Amino acid sequence: KLEGSLRPQMLSDYIGQVKVKENLKIYIEAAKQRKETLDHVLLFGPPGLGKTTLAGIIANEMGVNIKITSGPVIEKPGEMAAILNNLQEGDVLFVDEIHRLNRQVEELLYPAMEDFVIDIVIGKGASAKSIRLDLPKFTLVGATTRAGMLTPPLRDRFGVVNRMDFYTIEELKTIILRSAEVIRVEIEEEGALELARRSRGTPRLANRLLKRVRDFAQVKYDGRITKEVAGFALDLLEVDKLGLDHIDREILVTMIEKFGGGPVGIEAVATTIGEDVGTIEEVYEPYLVQNGLILRTPRGRVASELAYQHMGLRMD
Ligand code: ADE
Repeated sequence: KLEGSLRPQMLSDYIGQVKVKENLKIYIEAAKQRKETLDHVLLFGPPGLGKTTLAGIIANEMGVNIKITSGPVIEKPGEMAAILNNLQEGDVLFVDEIHRLNRQVEELLYPAMEDFVIDIVIGKGASAKSIRLDLPKFTLVGATTRAGMLTPPLRDRFGVVNRMDFYTIEELKTIILRSAEVIRVEIEEEGALELARRSRGTPRLANRLLKRVRDFAQVKYDGRITKEVAGFALDLLEVDKLGLDHIDREILVTMIEKFGGGPVGIEAVATTIGEDVGTIEEVYEPYLVQNGLILRTPRGRVASELAYQHMGLRMD
């Protein structure tokens, strides 16, 4: 699968997230030297930054299998018990959106993570009894958009907690050049740079935009991605110079025109534009804050001077 080969397989191929990488490299090496399983790892940060990719790399580096699931998919403790019981010694279990596990499933994880056992209740009522089942040792890699969404008992059971940050433009450019080679499209440095600038610090988006820009380059030009071709295609895709899409811009315009630039609560903005509050907080806002377009104050969110300038609106 093409998509698959865009994902790096080992830590040495993984670009960016320098701190996370340096940490993991040491913990992986130490665990391997001691012939132990790696401690449980929590990865948090905005979507599209490579949490699943890193989980795969952890498994590859440890030389074990990975089983991938997600919080909302596991509805009953029995389903989680079956998954855990079917792992092989040392395997990685990746649970995406781990904050969305229901309480019973989450509680089953506590003894599983701590002592590699689960307690299963057999029977009902007075004759019910609990039996303890030993599990293979495993590494849980959990991913969530915000660490604060996890309950403290779950969060405390991760030995390694890493925050993923937005990628720099240079890092994204390197990723784009590498991906262009994988999908065999000719690209100029300046073309890659233009794509990188407009990819919201997010490799998943960079790779998606690369494919769309390649289509434009192929059909409307000579197939080569130059700065001009990238710029033209991205304008048509309504991705602006800072990488903002129409929802980002709607958020800023709403804050400025409907709420006088703030301070305003994020719920009010979400309701006004008809978007889900969680999505705005976890997907849109982090990038707008990172780039100084939205300022977070104790009284609410404020549109910055840069936001006014970028949207071509006047502060008065
Ligand atoms: N493709 C997607 N994310 C990547 C990363 N962090 N490094 C290299 N290639 C990638």
